[in-house]
Amino acid sequence: MPTVPEIMARERSGPPITMLTAYDKSIAEIADLAGIDIVLVGDSVGNTVLGYETTLPVTIEEMISHTAAVVRGVKESLVVTDLPFLSVGVDESVSIMNAGKMLKMGGADAVKIESGPHTIPITKRLVDLGIPVMAHVGLLPQRIRQIGGYYQQGTDESSALEIMELAKGHENAGAFAIVLEHMPSDIAKNITDGLEIPTIGIGAGPHTRGQVLVVDDVIGLSNSLPPFARKFGDVRTEMSNAIKKYREEVISRKFPPEDTD
Ligand code: KIV
Repeated sequence: MPTVPEIMARERSGPPITMLTAYDKSIAEIADLAGIDIVLVGDSVGNTVLGYETTLPVTIEEMISHTAAVVRGVKESLVVTDLPFLSVGVDESVSIMNAGKMLKMGGADAVKIESGPHTIPITKRLVDLGIPVMAHVGLLPQRIRQIGGYYQQGTDESSALEIMELAKGHENAGAFAIVLEHMPSDIAKNITDGLEIPTIGIGAGPHTRGQVLVVDDVIGLSNSLPPFARKFGDVRTEMSNAIKKYREEVISRKFPPEDTD
């Protein structure tokens, strides 16, 4: 099982770190058996499983429940879970309790925090208390109301510099890895070259030390994909065919058969 120190110690020249979201036991088990290094219980559960328009309504209780389900499906992968909107960074002791719940009640190995200048001190405090933190810079979906859309970040010199400084600040605060979301590939490369900790990219080009995607996009369950994602399968069609077949066989009385032992 990759531990936090093992993820940190991964050689730059070695294979990239693989990270994929999961929100339930079955998919977590499949990801784990496929050899995914890090299973992320993303607050994207809000969009994918729970049907919210954004990640903003996701609660700590929902994250704990999905985290515990994922942990029950995983044997080898590291499980990292998101701290949802406003559960961290408002009040220090509330942030600590919420992060602690993810490890104590959810069983996660680490938490991920959408980062800003205000999350540097809390990252340090959590790390001091023994809670590993993955930082997250670039496009931050929890700031959707402020940004106004899921746009690429770091596209001008000053915002690129801001992201770089934020990344360095979180490394100095003790984060063990950092997600770089939706930014130009050369900015992601500069950040990756300038940090000791591994960078894990999503829509940030090929130069980061790992990659992450949302599992619904990867398996082809989502209705639509962000521009940087890729569909590697077509589970939606498979599921639809299986469900239609089941329905047809029930109404035509082909299923169930007369005797089943
Ligand atoms: O919530 C999520 O799934 C994420 C990834 C996209 C990095 O934060």
